[in-house]
Amino acid sequence: MTGQQLTVDLFDYVIFGGGGDLAERKLLPALYHRDRDGSIPNGARIIGVSRTERSDDDYKIFARKAIEAHVAPGDMDAESIQRFLSRLHYMSVDATGTTGWKELKALLDKGGSDRIRAFYLAVAPTIFGAIAAKLKTNSLVNGNTRVVIEKPIGRDLKSAKTLNAEIAKHFSEDQIFRIDHYLGKETVQNLMALRFANTLYDPVWNSTFIDHVQITVAESVGLGSRAGYYDTSGALRDMIQNHLVQLLALVALEPPSAFKADAIRDEKLKVLRALKPINADNVSQVTVRGQYRAGAGEDGAVKGYLEDLNGPSDTETFVSLKVEVNNWRWAGVPFYLRTGKRMPTRGSEIVITFKPIPMSIFEGSSGRIFQNRLVLRLQPGEGVKQWLMIKNPGPGGMKLRQVALDMSFAEEFEARQPDAYERLLMDVIRRDQSLFMRRDEVEAAWEWVDPILKAWTDTEQRVQGYASGTWGPSGAVALIERDGRTWHEPE
Ligand code: BG6
Repeated sequence: MTGQQLTVDLFDYVIFGGGGDLAERKLLPALYHRDRDGSIPNGARIIGVSRTERSDDDYKIFARKAIEAHVAPGDMDAESIQRFLSRLHYMSVDATGTTGWKELKALLDKGGSDRIRAFYLAVAPTIFGAIAAKLKTNSLVNGNTRVVIEKPIGRDLKSAKTLNAEIAKHFSEDQIFRIDHYLGKETVQNLMALRFANTLYDPVWNSTFIDHVQITVAESVGLGSRAGYYDTSGALRDMIQNHLVQLLALVALEPPSAFKADAIRDEKLKVLRALKPINADNVSQVTVRGQYRAGAGEDGAVKGYLEDLNGPSDTETFVSLKVEVNNWRWAGVPFYLRTGKRMPTRGSEIVITFKPIPMSIFEGSSGRIFQNRLVLRLQPGEGVKQWLMIKNPGPGGMKLRQVALDMSFAEEFEARQPDAYERLLMDVIRRDQSLFMRRDEVEAAWEWVDPILKAWTDTEQRVQGYASGTWGPSGAVALIERDGRTWHEPE
């Protein structure tokens, strides 16, 4: 159990791409967990949809395998699995054609005309617009409908606007749930609690007290067979434009007037609009692009990106940036962002480093006084650590030492740490958009990213190679060391 669960209202979840990778790895396991925890009411249905012909029973076999592969053994029991499978249905629908829609409508109508209908489009973004139109023309949309989409929402500002406009033709903004799954991670939500449910932090949450912020999202995996798809994207589009920029916005936002979707998103938007532009004039000083070469993976030697791709490429699998937020609170406080594949370990953290003390009253023999750091660990091992200086206990005079007030969630709370999708899937049903990206946020993020992409092309800034199993190219180290700072390596 993950603590107290509230059962949501009766719903039908329709997953387009129901037999796909996202459904298998994330959506079905997340819904299973929520069902086991008691959030899903009896009578709710989960309807897998794709073009392939399959029976309900075949889909249940697929779902059972997904659960067995992606749920921890301790969270599986025959009764819960059986109950979850009994909620599943399957419909073969040609998403861009005409077959299957009538049958899907008939199935949904059996649930009554005002039951919540959530359409999760776990399909290629190129067909989001077409499906949105089909839902409308086939009269599948009732007064209680939501539609869920995921990145990539465009590959630049223009395509993002086109995609948003296509969906907006058929759905209003309060029906559209744009998922950035990083916002569903426990520690990310905890950032809001730390800042706004305590008096301690907000008074020092500004350029007077904060020296700099680091956001690292490191993955140890390479691209392997995904390289072909990834090559059209790269780390800036795949991770920075959405996940890391969203994390930055949550760190930097002004206190919202209420913990309500639009109040939070209004404040995030202001941060996105205050990001200092990166263009041909400064791009080489504040950005580094990397691409992994052969080296050490977690389980032995691994190939380089070009071998994974089997061809030439200048796509970055690593990027680091020095970002500034041009507003009163943050003027002069750099936000260093980095993300990459084939890093030495999987680890994501937000590290807030406070300014040094103004002067030391201690003798040199007391030891070094480290700057206070607040480390928000996103994964794995979610938790928060506040690093402080204390006196080393016992004899030996005034010896100072750095220790962490350590709040590791798994140790502190017995509850299982839920996957981000669990929370997000239920928020869709609750119609709570706080953790979803609004159209203007997505577009503002692209507005900032587009000039970086253009500057890389215009200045011919190429990727720098880095050995797999290292923290990226030497340029990334130089990017922060030039400012007299160092990267905090996730533990
Ligand atoms: C996705 C990216 O959005 O996030 C992937 O497209 C990346 O490339 C993934 O691997 C990382 O998510 P998580 O939750 O495993 O950190």
